[in-house]
Amino acid sequence: MFLGIDVGTGGTRAILIDRSGRVVASFSSEHAGIRSEHIGWAEQDPEDWWRAAREAVAGVLSASKVTGSEIEAVGLTGQMHGCVMLDADGAVLRPALIWCDQRTQPQCDWLTEKIGFERLIELTCNPALPNFTLTKLLWVREHQPEIFAKIAHVLCPKDYVRYRMTGEFAMDMQEASGTLLLDVTHRRWSVEVAEAAQIPMVWLPRLFEGPEICAEIHVAGAGETGLAAGTPVAAGAGDQGAGAVGMGILTPGSVSATIGTSGVVFAATDSPVKDRLGRLHTFCHAAPGRWHVMGVTNGAGLSLRYFRDTFAPDSSYEDLTARAGKAPAGADGLLWAPYLFGERTPHLDPDARAAFVGITASHTQGHFVRAVLEGVALSLRDTFTLFEELQVPVKAIRLGGGGARGPLWRQIQADVYGHPVELLQAEEGGAFGAALLAGTGVGAWDSVEAACAATVRVAETIEPKNTAVMNEAYKRYRRVYPALHEIARS
Ligand code: XUL
Repeated sequence: MFLGIDVGTGGTRAILIDRSGRVVASFSSEHAGIRSEHIGWAEQDPEDWWRAAREAVAGVLSASKVTGSEIEAVGLTGQMHGCVMLDADGAVLRPALIWCDQRTQPQCDWLTEKIGFERLIELTCNPALPNFTLTKLLWVREHQPEIFAKIAHVLCPKDYVRYRMTGEFAMDMQEASGTLLLDVTHRRWSVEVAEAAQIPMVWLPRLFEGPEICAEIHVAGAGETGLAAGTPVAAGAGDQGAGAVGMGILTPGSVSATIGTSGVVFAATDSPVKDRLGRLHTFCHAAPGRWHVMGVTNGAGLSLRYFRDTFAPDSSYEDLTARAGKAPAGADGLLWAPYLFGERTPHLDPDARAAFVGITASHTQGHFVRAVLEGVALSLRDTFTLFEELQVPVKAIRLGGGGARGPLWRQIQADVYGHPVELLQAEEGGAFGAALLAGTGVGAWDSVEAACAATVRVAETIEPKNTAVMNEAYKRYRRVYPALHEIARS
């Protein structure tokens, strides 16, 4: 039996799978919300993740009646990029700045100036973005030097939970790619970037491949979780890497489109594919010897949630999507640009703003909801357009997250991508992928590829229907951001 733990943004989820990949039980525990003292700031308390992880593990053990000693290995995954700072005794120095915190553009500009845009992409495969861990560390140096002076260790969220369970400072290659401190091509920390940024290398944890066993549950960790001391812990991966493993996205041509709070189009590659303009993220994959590229829409599921909370607080998502289903494909010309939290792919613009465009008196609430669902898919299509430009092959597209759950959003995605989309028998997110990495680490499967082949099954393929209408909508959608940008600048 293998345990996967996903330290997400909203909560931590633990799932238990057996050797056939069947989910035996799962249990989630919510986190306290995101603290945002100023617009664009986002912080969480690492101690709260650890509390939620303990509850999730205890919950899954009790729901399944499995004892700690029956668990053969543990794998970790979680929200990426968050910056956890610890002192020499391993105590948390301040709340973590998490992935969606947008405050660090000045630090990004400083770093880009120092290293050079092209050189940074050569070294790390990525540009400096406010989401990435290193830029958060630079903000603390500038604004809270008394805290910065005490830093002895830097970790990402799930790696902090690992530290509490095992006492080890460790990180996997996929997660490390999102820190901006990794030499993604050679799968090692970049001395040149660390030196240019003046970050001591000794702060950085040891690096491992996703399925590698990097630690074991220590006695204190066992006492707090109900797991057995000595249980092996695999390195795991960030939520996007582990999610891709859970969906079987490993070889060139296989692609996923996952709509959660953010939306991600993810393609597996055999080598690091770099965009010289840095519009896509190029990271090491959770599987050894593989890489991936991904494009991220910051406000994907968040768009629908924002719409409901703001304009239809008494409606359920089901009611809203039922109304959307009555509006025609293309929403009679109404467009939604989902830049509620700025945008990553392809605009790299933390100041981008969202908009509805083309409202007429005949648009109903259903049209608006349909426009939101379509707008999110249209923004993900921008990543497919970049894949075409960079010759990243797309053979099969698998859907994940909330965007795969209802029939309308699935069909909209097939229509907008102009490509059949596949639904999996069970789509369990990152925790499932983390459990597969753990099983691979202890030899239940020979490789990550073998683990996926044994456990991931396609249930249904959905063909596109309304491609002509959505191609037209995409042409109009592409003209919205430049106009919004122009307005924002004036
Ligand atoms: C990936 C990303 C998000 C976070 C939160 O680059 O920022 O997927 O990991 O889920």
